Amino acid sequence: MSKTDIRRAAVIGFPVAQSLSPLMHKYWMQQCGIEGDYEAIEVAPVDLADFVNQAKHGGLAGFNITVPHKTAILPLLDKIAPLAKQMGAVNTVKISEDGTLSGFNTDGIGLVKHLKTSVVAYGFDRPALILGAGGAARAAAIGLLTENVPLVMITNRTREKAETIAQDIGRGRMTVLDWDNRADAVAAAGLIVNTTTLGMIGEPPLALDLSSAANDTVVYDIVYKPLETDLLKAAHTRGLTTVDGLGMLVHQGAAAFKIWFGEEVGFDAGLKEKLEGALSC
Ligand code: ATR
Repeated sequence: MSKTDIRRAAVIGFPVAQSLSPLMHKYWMQQCGIEGDYEAIEVAPVDLADFVNQAKHGGLAGFNITVPHKTAILPLLDKIAPLAKQMGAVNTVKISEDGTLSGFNTDGIGLVKHLKTSVVAYGFDRPALILGAGGAARAAAIGLLTENVPLVMITNRTREKAETIAQDIGRGRMTVLDWDNRADAVAAAGLIVNTTTLGMIGEPPLALDLSSAANDTVVYDIVYKPLETDLLKAAHTRGLTTVDGLGMLVHQGAAAFKIWFGEEVGFDAGLKEKLEGALSC
């Protein structure tokens, strides 16, 4: 197999046509002078094991994984990085030349790297509030705890799911709040992260009373369709720093690109323009 053959990657999901990953990775390939391709491949849950077996020797450097395969893929891999194990989810697989499959999770790193590079207003020194308790919430919590945030407060409509995350990874640095009392955590939070699907096109908005927020609170929404959710509009009106979901998407992708191709890439104006253009279609 020649070097050029292995400079291909993909994203698998079901559905996957909506994924922005091909646009992003192709942009970086071009920028780095890598001759390659990045495809979106629809893989139904019943076909996941077959896809993984074929991928071992299919000429891919690796692939990203999106809904609904992030957890189902775990038993099909040869090695799983500690962070991905802790998250119980994999979003990036590297395929070695001998067909060994290694799983990683770059979602939490994506959030932290984005905060560090672009959101100077939050220094990881004040409590954070996470809304939601799915895979993205777990990734965000792990990322923030790794940065030694003093306290991560978490709230979810289904409280037990938030409790499970706090028990699994909190080590005394996470507290759980009832969903109906979520506004009570706002005053203490230096960072508020929405990881729920609320606010996405077709979903109801996330209602959160921000009146008690400190003036330097950062409100981060991982939703990127639309880019400006009602939560971010409300935060903006309240004069708070707001961050949309594109940064986390880009930084988790950049970390995957580094794993496959060894190149450092990032979020520049050209990529921002391309992604915003795709989202406005
Ligand atoms: P992911 O793994 O991508 O983070 P997920 O597991 O589907 O996504 O999680 C979606 C999150 O949005 C969950 O926290 C979910 O709350 P439940 O655990 O109670 O289902 C939250 N969510 C979705 N619809 C919601 C709604 N109408 N009100 C409140 N929370 C909602």
